[in-house]
Amino acid sequence: MTTADIAAPLYLDAARPVAERIADLLSRMTVEEKIGQMMQLDARDDIEDQVLRRHVGSILHASPERLLRAHDLVAQTRLGIPLLVGEDCIHGHSFFEGATIFPTQLGMAASWDTELVEQIARATAEEVSATGVHWTFSPVLCIARDLRWGRVGETFGEDPFLIGELASAMVRGYQGNGLADETAILATAKHFAGYSETQGGRDASEADISRRKLRSWFLPPFERVAKEGCRTFMLGYQSTDGVPITINDWLLSDVLRGEWGYTGTLITDWDNVGRMVWEQRVQPDYAHAAAAAVRAGNDMIMTTPGFFDGAREAIERGLLTESDLDPAVARILLLKFEFGLFENPRRPDRARIEASVGSTPHAALNLEAARRSLVLLRNDGTLPLLPDSSADDTGRARDHAAPRRIAVLGPLADDAQTQLGDWAGSSGQADWLPDGHLREMITTVLDGMTRVAPESWVIESAEGARILSLEEDPAGAFFPDGQPRPQVVVPAEPDPALIADAVAAARRADLAVVVVGDRIELVGEGRSTATLELIGAQVALLDAVAATGTPFVVVLLASKPLVLPPAVERAAALIWAASPGMEGGRAIAEVILGLTEPTGRLPISFARHAGQQPTYYNQIRGQHGDRYADLTQSPAFVFGEGLSYTSVDYDDLRITESEVGPTDVVRAQVRVTNSGDRPTRETVQVYVRDRVTSVSWADRELKAYRRVDLAPGESREVSWELPVSACSLVDARGERRVEAGEFDLLVGPSSREDHLLSATFTVTE
Ligand code: NOJ
Repeated sequence: MTTADIAAPLYLDAARPVAERIADLLSRMTVEEKIGQMMQLDARDDIEDQVLRRHVGSILHASPERLLRAHDLVAQTRLGIPLLVGEDCIHGHSFFEGATIFPTQLGMAASWDTELVEQIARATAEEVSATGVHWTFSPVLCIARDLRWGRVGETFGEDPFLIGELASAMVRGYQGNGLADETAILATAKHFAGYSETQGGRDASEADISRRKLRSWFLPPFERVAKEGCRTFMLGYQSTDGVPITINDWLLSDVLRGEWGYTGTLITDWDNVGRMVWEQRVQPDYAHAAAAAVRAGNDMIMTTPGFFDGAREAIERGLLTESDLDPAVARILLLKFEFGLFENPRRPDRARIEASVGSTPHAALNLEAARRSLVLLRNDGTLPLLPDSSADDTGRARDHAAPRRIAVLGPLADDAQTQLGDWAGSSGQADWLPDGHLREMITTVLDGMTRVAPESWVIESAEGARILSLEEDPAGAFFPDGQPRPQVVVPAEPDPALIADAVAAARRADLAVVVVGDRIELVGEGRSTATLELIGAQVALLDAVAATGTPFVVVLLASKPLVLPPAVERAAALIWAASPGMEGGRAIAEVILGLTEPTGRLPISFARHAGQQPTYYNQIRGQHGDRYADLTQSPAFVFGEGLSYTSVDYDDLRITESEVGPTDVVRAQVRVTNSGDRPTRETVQVYVRDRVTSVSWADRELKAYRRVDLAPGESREVSWELPVSACSLVDARGERRVEAGEFDLLVGPSSREDHLLSATFTVTE
């Protein structure tokens, strides 16, 4: 035996360059070990089989116990290659007991606040990394356009610029100071690309989208985070032009890895490789599917157990060579080496868990996030209830007003788990928190009103309405791949006794707060909705409360914009809270009472009718008229809209130089004045209209925004520099460029045309 035989293998020598360590390890791996390294399997299944026999490189959905077991099993393997542990920690550490659950992405987006979103991602990374999870499948960069799609709440809304800003912040927050930092986790830009452009809102249907449209609106946010160093990208589920995204050579090779120079890791979505065989039926068997997926440049194959035998067979049959696997395996190993997992597999760290998971600073950040996520859409002056109050040390409004009686009504007034939204606790993707997150960590609207209203006020509650029950899908309880089929929603009928209780409470009260919206059964993957109405007995409840004559505030606790019934027009105020997380109820109570100001702005438009889909503001010019014969086309509330408890005036929009070249910047400023008597944080929005374009184009697009704090009576000049290169379009050849000519700079509080000041600049040749 020589000394070389006894010495530790080179790949275990942390002093050697990573490239050498990868090459050494690759040279030692069998073909089965390479195939396994490319696989990510569901840790709820047979973990022994996954680690010991399939040599799996990564797991997801591991309960805390299974995660420890998986690490122990790795120690029994020949090469001891550590696991990458992934989880969907998309608004906090979704399925970890005691973790902080923040508002969902759409709620975060309503803040328009990049610093806040970065802080949320940082806090999430601290919690997640402490528990031994290395990789979050977040953020979502899909553009939400059809509101019927079940995953609208997972997005940052409908505008590519806002999505890019917030996604970039989130990636920075997750990845921190780089992988060597023990609090860093891998971010994932998903779902690449065009997945949200479903037909009829149906999840994962064919996305009918041209390359030019992709380049115009869907790809720019992805391009930005690819170039900024987002370490992983996840594919969507859709096919485009007949080609499943998993094997879309143009997108994966030409654009992502080619034009953008992306060197990160690419992971498929759930069973994308298997679905090419059993669902899309574009591959005859797993051998062909595996070969095609590897050739297209996928690195990690999520939850396709058949990939193991499929890839082996593909090599045996000459559809693939062993060396075809090497670039993918090398990219996965690179992450593991950069994380330092061979030296320290980053198992759960009890001390760090105690210090950070669900910590007090994270709860405070979460409360701030929930406050910023709320959008006040209507107010007749009834809110705030206590214009002159402030909070005492416990956060309760000081008891200076006459005692009042408030009825907190509705099926969502005290529904703690629904308030968290999808991908949290008992939302269905994990099986180890059947009762959801700890009830005592969550403040519902009822809790919030009870804890925050002045001591002498009387708060009473009534459910008033049920939303739905579930029935098994007539097509069977399982999909062909063994995954459970979501159950079918049966809307609840109005229950006269429940309504009578609520009506009696409303009659006794000075004000009713009615909390309505959607439930997890109407939200998420495979759970798109045909309608956008409030389901079940909620409309009947609103009608009944409106008929009492007691003033009422509607809190729409809904994952996505819904179509509101006529009774809401009779409400004194309307607040939208998009799955506002654990502190949501307190934040809502504070805003109603006036302890905080409403500052959220819509990241997505609200429709008046499901048949208006899509209602996004940045639509392409050129149709006959601008309405339906039986309905206006205008949305109920548009992108950028949201009220404050004060009024803000815009004037004196000025452009410094109104003639600019294509490489210049447009310098401009506007004056904003708080003309009311309460402070606010105004979101000054800057849109650009290219007056004449060589191809049809969006009439106006958000290009910049500034958030400005304004005291009552305060006036401020807000200025910005907009690169002319941002005023580009994608021409008929698919190339992005700025066209010379006249442009309008449109500045104001929302995307609504009549809210915007306008000034003109000219771009010279
Ligand atoms: C499928 C979803 O589409 C994706 O967003 C998620 O990250 C994976 N499942 C893993 O849970």
